[in-house]
Amino acid sequence: RTAVLATVPVALAALLATTGAAAPLVARSTAPGTTGSPGAGDPYFPLSGNGGYDVRHYDLTLRYDPAGRRLDGTAVLTARATRRLTRFDLDLSGLTVTRVTVDGRTARFARDGRELVVTPPAARAKGRDFRVAVTYHGTPEPVTDPDGSPDGWIPTDDGAFVAGQPQGAMTWFPANGHPKDKASYDFTLTVPRGHTAVANGVLLGQRTAHGRTTFRWRQTEPMAAYLATATIGRFRTERYTTRDGIQVFNAVDPREARAAAPVLKKLPSVLEWESRLFGPYPFRAAGSLVDHAPDVGYALETQTRPVYDSAPDLGTLVHESAHQWFGDSVSLTAWRDIWLNEGFATYAEWLHSEQHGGPSAQQTFDARYARPAGDALWAYPPGDPGSGEHLFGTPVYERGAMALHALRRAVGDRDFFRILRAWADGRRGGHGTTAQFVTLAERISGKRLAGLFRTWLYAPGKPDRA
Ligand code: ARG
Ligand code: ZN
Repeated sequence: RTAVLATVPVALAALLATTGAAAPLVARSTAPGTTGSPGAGDPYFPLSGNGGYDVRHYDLTLRYDPAGRRLDGTAVLTARATRRLTRFDLDLSGLTVTRVTVDGRTARFARDGRELVVTPPAARAKGRDFRVAVTYHGTPEPVTDPDGSPDGWIPTDDGAFVAGQPQGAMTWFPANGHPKDKASYDFTLTVPRGHTAVANGVLLGQRTAHGRTTFRWRQTEPMAAYLATATIGRFRTERYTTRDGIQVFNAVDPREARAAAPVLKKLPSVLEWESRLFGPYPFRAAGSLVDHAPDVGYALETQTRPVYDSAPDLGTLVHESAHQWFGDSVSLTAWRDIWLNEGFATYAEWLHSEQHGGPSAQQTFDARYARPAGDALWAYPPGDPGSGEHLFGTPVYERGAMALHALRRAVGDRDFFRILRAWADGRRGGHGTTAQFVTLAERISGKRLAGLFRTWLYAPGKPDRA
């Protein structure tokens, strides 16, 4: 969630986004059959992700020196070739690669913008697993998103705030950086003693030797690369297990501790409340990362452990927690469908208010609907924001939530919550598209809903009737 909505149009990104829809951007990879493509085919971010293989597991071993801002890493990816592969790409921005091996043998590699192009000594057979090891180092720098936000590895005064939506994973590890490709992760993170390095999933162990501490984290359930984190700082940490057996790990910058404490205390009850509405919490680990990163301007639902740029309010905690079901467990196949993440997480906030003594979802809806036709809320339809510049704008969050409220009104509470639970449960650990959501809603309710979704998701301007 974004505290202040800043929109800084970047003409080049917009241009890339439109041209990418029509034609492959990089001519070198059009040789049919045997080379992986440099993008996953997403018109909003044509070079995010890659074609030709599917990563199953990332094993990231990283060492970071916050004072010198230097990262040393080895990434070992286990991937399956989806076609015969003589060459393939990984996404990587900046950093220096010193060595690449494929199944233990030295591979040729080249850098081409934000692509790392790997040529294995022999073609990889379609359907077979192969292992790529990339050794690299350098000073990681965030990329700037089309909306002007920093994205990826964002240095702070005592470490780094690490959040990669939509394209920042490539700033700190070689990735298949599109949510179409989900994988499990192991992290081995070494930082100077006194610092804590926090990634996703369960803490396997930590060890201090020679003035450095190594933290080992494991994310077992499939995760999109943009949801990976390795946030580093001088944090206060806390560990406990909830009544439901979820392993919680919190890390909090001391400067945010006082403001964060009363909100973080509510995490178990928020997850329980959301589990009642959306079905069982999809992961074995949970927690919060509260950094002090005044230049970031947003929070991100990093899997199992959302990262906040400052102490969150309760609404933000509810929002990022709801993303664990909607966005993290059930992932996008295209950034255009971003309302499936943001509209749902925003509607979770409305529901939380309704069930905890605040305004009802209907009242929130009515207040939004009262905004005049010229308001930013109606600037573009949430089902098709048009480019990466508009992914995190008000229409996606607020009108996306309004679409869900309109659905609830049309089908009634019983079917509405059945739809949400069936969506989360049926696609747990996988993917979903808007069309699939509409189909599910129609199946469960027995109603024709195409018109309702057309109005709320796709019609330009303010819809006529609320
Ligand atoms: N998905 C995040 C949230 O709503 C917002 C991320 C914003 N990122 C960005 N690059 N603008 O919780
Ligand atoms: Zn969100």
